[in-house]
Amino acid sequence: MRIAVHGASGFTGRLTVAEVRRRGLTPVLVGRNEDRLRKAAAEAGAAGAEIRVAGLDEPVALAEALRDCDAVINCAGPFTPMGKPVIRAAVTAGTHYLDTTGEQHYIRRVLDGFREDVERAGVAVVPAMADDGGPGDLIAHLVAARLGSVAELVVADLRRPGAASRGTARSMAAVFAQGPLEYVDGEWHTAGEAPAPLSASGGSASMAVPGEEGEAAVAVFALPGVVTVPRHVRARRVRSVIRAEAAAMFVALTPDVVDTIPETPDEAARNASRWLMLAEAVDSEGNRARGWVTGSDGYGMTAVIAVEGARRLVADGAPAGTLTPAQAFDPADFLDHLTTHGVTWQIVQS
Ligand SMILES: NC(=O)c1ccc[n+]([C@@H]2O[C@H](COP(=O)([O-])OP(=O)(O)OC[C@H]3O[C@@H](n4cnc5c(N)ncnc54)[C@H](OP(=O)(O)O)[C@@H]3O)[C@@H](O)[C@H]2O)c1
Repeated sequence: MRIAVHGASGFTGRLTVAEVRRRGLTPVLVGRNEDRLRKAAAEAGAAGAEIRVAGLDEPVALAEALRDCDAVINCAGPFTPMGKPVIRAAVTAGTHYLDTTGEQHYIRRVLDGFREDVERAGVAVVPAMADDGGPGDLIAHLVAARLGSVAELVVADLRRPGAASRGTARSMAAVFAQGPLEYVDGEWHTAGEAPAPLSASGGSASMAVPGEEGEAAVAVFALPGVVTVPRHVRARRVRSVIRAEAAAMFVALTPDVVDTIPETPDEAARNASRWLMLAEAVDSEGNRARGWVTGSDGYGMTAVIAVEGARRLVADGAPAGTLTPAQAFDPADFLDHLTTHGVTWQIVQS
């Protein structure tokens, strides 16, 4: 199975190439700079891997670079300005597409704007296959399934700030500038700046965090779940929050600050870091369900999620179309696969 990694010279791209190799699949490194791609191949333990050079402004070359690949994983962000040419190339080449974006507005535009072209090409396009958008969408689907109907659902990224790459900081600054969406009564709207009361978590802007004493303050933030979950869960309202301390950090991300962040997070900090995606839902009678997925090293896990997703699209066959993670994959089965990498997940009802 040949898996192209676009943006293979970046931090996430290198981890993804290494994971493709670890799974016994064949990586093809795609990007704009040959020297950086070759260096990345060596660093990822794939020195002999094929390198294909194509810029985002070279649609023919980019499509050719993907043509004999079974799937492409796009790791070149920020995706808002850079993602679409790679999707167009995948559609032209007839190659399945996944990416590691967490950019909410971009994900919405991909899911809505590319639907017809992607269906006509007979491929699957699955954005947000990273450690927030993937587990967040999958666990939200399983939580909602525990209730007959969902009045309100909140997706929360409850990791503590830290261990972020410069690429992530650059992308998150762009996300913050666009403002968060919420989903209400069948439409997406700009969410209020102040954290609205979370009726699904007891009426305050704080949440109980699994494994922690007390509650953590949270703030509205633009997570992928707001634009992915309503496509497979019937809910009146869907919102997303992160820890208030993480939100405060993103507010401070001016371009000057982004440039001071190391390109690659410190390895010890990365290995020690934990991520936790939680979904909480309430039905019209006040019945509640909450579920969470947690693990370590979010960047390593992003590579695992994206590569396993690509492998499943190719090996199991996927419906053609623009799909959220929970539409493309069996949610419980995919999360069970992640447990082989130290991830745990559970759902509780009250
Ligand atoms: N949501 C999540 O949970 C999650 C997790 C992991 C990663 N991500 C996302 O993945 C993306 C990558 O992060 P990272 O830390 O790996 O960033 P990075 O190290 O800065 O890598 C960026 C990559 O994009 C390529 N690139 C930049 N500008 C380009 C252009 N104009 N044309 C073609 N390629 C270009 C770079 O190629 P050159 O080497 O040629 O510059 C490089 O390969 C970010 O958007 C990040 O938010 C998200």
